[in-house]
Amino acid sequence: MSNAIPPGITYVNDRFLEASEATVSIFDRGFLFADAIYEVSSVLEGGLVDNPAHLARLQRSLGEVDLPLPLAPEKITGLQRELIERNRLHEGLVYLQITRGPANRDFAFPSSPQPTLVMFVQHKKIVDNPAAKSGISIITSPDLRWARCDIKSVSLLAASMAKQAALDAGADDTWMVENDRITEGSSNNAWIVGSEGNLITRHLGSEILPGITRSVVLRLAQEEGLEVEERAFTVAEAKSAAEAFSTSAASFVVPVVRIDDRVIGDGKPGPLTREIRKRYIKSAMESARSDIDEARSNSQESR
Ligand code: PDD
Repeated sequence: MSNAIPPGITYVNDRFLEASEATVSIFDRGFLFADAIYEVSSVLEGGLVDNPAHLARLQRSLGEVDLPLPLAPEKITGLQRELIERNRLHEGLVYLQITRGPANRDFAFPSSPQPTLVMFVQHKKIVDNPAAKSGISIITSPDLRWARCDIKSVSLLAASMAKQAALDAGADDTWMVENDRITEGSSNNAWIVGSEGNLITRHLGSEILPGITRSVVLRLAQEEGLEVEERAFTVAEAKSAAEAFSTSAASFVVPVVRIDDRVIGDGKPGPLTREIRKRYIKSAMESARSDIDEARSNSQESR
């Protein structure tokens, strides 16, 4: 992964700025305390995918840490769209982060916070992604994160260490484990397929992020009449699964073909996983197109 900051237009507190000009204070609580919430929405054909659900989760996370939403969700959506346009983003990600802002360093929350809102985009081929064709290998390791993983906070060091440990071991990602049960991937939700073609993914709770992709895949699976179990599963169960995959806005549905020393299925992406990926991409494309339609009708109304 290149370390270079890619050029482009970013958004920092009311202003669109070149990436090289985009800075925040060293006293920002996002920097000092990881006192910040973020969201990542994917973009296909220039349209936002499942964005209202991402913004609803943003509001929920902010509420859990008593941080006010600095702008109305419609305004945030407008800024996300403007950023996509300014960067000519066809396919990739829009990253958004809200911090409690700069304040004298003190563990207590400042009484009148001045939140920081930053956004940037990342160009990325999500649909035509080699990992989706080959599948990825993962390792398992203890979940070292905090006790409120349902909050999308930027406190990501444990997740980052988990990802790096996978790369150092020659694998692609880590599924994290608590009490011998998989919680989730370093930045994705974990799924397995049982011998009857049943889907299994961990139930919601404070141990995992309520993934937006997870919720859409659950809906699509139910529409297909697939049996779905939302429950914790053990490492052994994962290793003997018929198929395995992960879900996230950054990569959609990614087949897992190896877990630690065990090959999953025949070592190739499983048929159900491939089908679910296909269905998810179709749904994501529809969502992106309806986002573009909505943006158009808003701009006509405002003329
Ligand atoms: N990560 N679990 C964790 C710990 C995550 O960080 C993510 C997303 C998910 C999947 O959520 P969703 O389907 O809403 O993207 C699950 C984003 C993509 C990131 O940190 O870059």
